[in-house]
Amino acid sequence: MEKRTFIKTAFLGTTALLFPKNAGALEYYPNPSDKKWAVLYGTWCGSARDAGVWISEGMDGIANVFDVRENPDLSVYDNVIVGGAIRAGKISPLLEEYLGKNRAILKTRLRGYFAVCGNMMRPVGPEQNKAMIDDHLAKICGVDSLPSKVFLGRITFGLMEPDVRKQMQQMAGIKEYDNLKRDECMAFGKELLDGTMKA
Ligand SMILES: Cc1cc2nc3c(=O)[nH]c(=O)nc-3n(C[C@H](O)[C@H](O)[C@H](O)COP(=O)(O)O)c2cc1C
Repeated sequence: MEKRTFIKTAFLGTTALLFPKNAGALEYYPNPSDKKWAVLYGTWCGSARDAGVWISEGMDGIANVFDVRENPDLSVYDNVIVGGAIRAGKISPLLEEYLGKNRAILKTRLRGYFAVCGNMMRPVGPEQNKAMIDDHLAKICGVDSLPSKVFLGRITFGLMEPDVRKQMQQMAGIKEYDNLKRDECMAFGKELLDGTMKA
């Protein structure tokens, strides 16, 4: 094979591996279920993703877990849980935009909210629930009084955008931490599933 043809063929082969034709959402641990559940999250550094996966684990893995960047079609699900990481008191602009655009689809499907935040490493309470869920996430979605949970998250400098990392590292008293608890996320998933089954 001519050198140029070989390089072209090899490149096309590699590209095909990177972008499979039927690329779709990664299905985490879906078990068969007659009720279709999805967890949708917005994250910068991954704590909200882990919270979402662990919420599904608490439901024995019946929920599919989506990053909002996948722009999933949630109309095919019966039950949806929505959550996001918090920066400057808010969820990511991308999640906010998605929730606004998909309000009509989500309205009848929403079963719970969660937020993942730092809260200066202090325990969370009703104040954080009000600020991040009742006065923020629930308002964006236009559906209130759903079960909700605010989880403490993580700070990992190496996962931040370079400018954000620089700013964070210059702030007094900011250090890396990991306060996200798998058992708390799983318990929330179980609570939502049990609550919906009773309803
Ligand atoms: C730039 C920046 C801003 C943040 N702002 C807040 C905030 O306003 N309130 C809060 O409780 N936590 C705040 N945090 C902490 C994050 O919510 C926490 O690290 C969370 O675990 C991030 O989730 P993620 O890993 O899914 O992106 C902030 C973190 C960063 C890096």
